[in-house]
Parts: sequence; C-alpha cells; structure tokens
Amino acid sequence: MNTQIDNIINHPKYKRYYSKIQEHEKGRSSCKHDMFHFLDVARIAYILNFEDDLSIPKNLIYATALLHDIGRFEQYERGIDHEISSASLCLEILQDTGFTENEIRQIQTAIINHRNMDIKDEKNLSGIIYRADKASRPCHSCLVQDVCNWPIEKQNLMINY
Ligand SMILES: [Fe+2]
Ligand SMILES: [Fe+2]
Repeated sequence: MNTQIDNIINHPKYKRYYSKIQEHEKGRSSCKHDMFHFLDVARIAYILNFEDDLSIPKNLIYATALLHDIGRFEQYERGIDHEISSASLCLEILQDTGFTENEIRQIQTAIINHRNMDIKDEKNLSGIIYRADKASRPCHSCLVQDVCNWPIEKQNLMINY
C-alpha cells in the first residue's frame, strides 16, 4: 500500500528533480544529496522529535526531509540558493500528495530555514530539520576532508550520542 510519503518519492516531478541532482553529483565524492542523506535527515529528525518531546507528526518530518534539498540542481544550474528553490518546488508535490495548507506552510518554513543558524535551537519542525541535516554528515570518518567546504567548526568530528 502506498503511503503519502511514498507518493512524494513517486511523484513524477520529484523523480525528475532527484535524477537531475544525481546527474550533477556523479563526480562528487562526499556529502551527496541523495536518498541516503534524505532518509538520514528524516530518521535523525524523528529521534530529535522524541528526545525533545515535540510530538510533530511523522509525515511532516519525513516530507520535509525528503524535500529539503530537492532544488539543489537549481543551485548547480542557475546559482539559486537551494533552500529557496526547494521551498518553491515542493509546493506542487505537497499539494498533489494531500498535505493541507497549514502543513505545507510549516514544511516550506522548515525548508527555507534549513541553512539558517539563527533557528538551530528552535523546538519545532524547522529546528529539528536544521539539526538533523547537520548531524547527518559523518565528517569524523570522511576520506575527502581536504575538499570539504564546511568550516571546521561546523564539522561533526565526534560521534554525538
Ligand atoms: Fe541543504
Ligand atoms: Fe541536506
């Protein structure tokens, strides 16, 4: 049985955007924006949801995680910051998969803010997605640190548990 979340990843536009990103990142050796990253973000955000006792619905967390970088190809192709393009491209997909206006607003806000340090400690969808996105990268075991563009203070050099 398909769920609302399966319907996102099976949406023709999602598939198209996703394959464009994979095409652009073929030669990239680390920190790809692929399904492994999206699901890491979803699962870490869901853990933070429990740890912070937030009770944010699981479908909102998974939808946001799956879509937060979906506009990445527009950054490669046209230099548009991908939090902006992702927040815009997700709209039609979320409408087609039955999310309410209120849910879409929350998801778009979290996507827009997923690179905004000012909200990183917030106890809401935006805050857990920001923290999950950053926590998802295993910098401590990275073999290509010399080509990383993350400043050292942002890197996850220890396993936080
Ligand atoms: Fe991102
Ligand atoms: Fe990300």
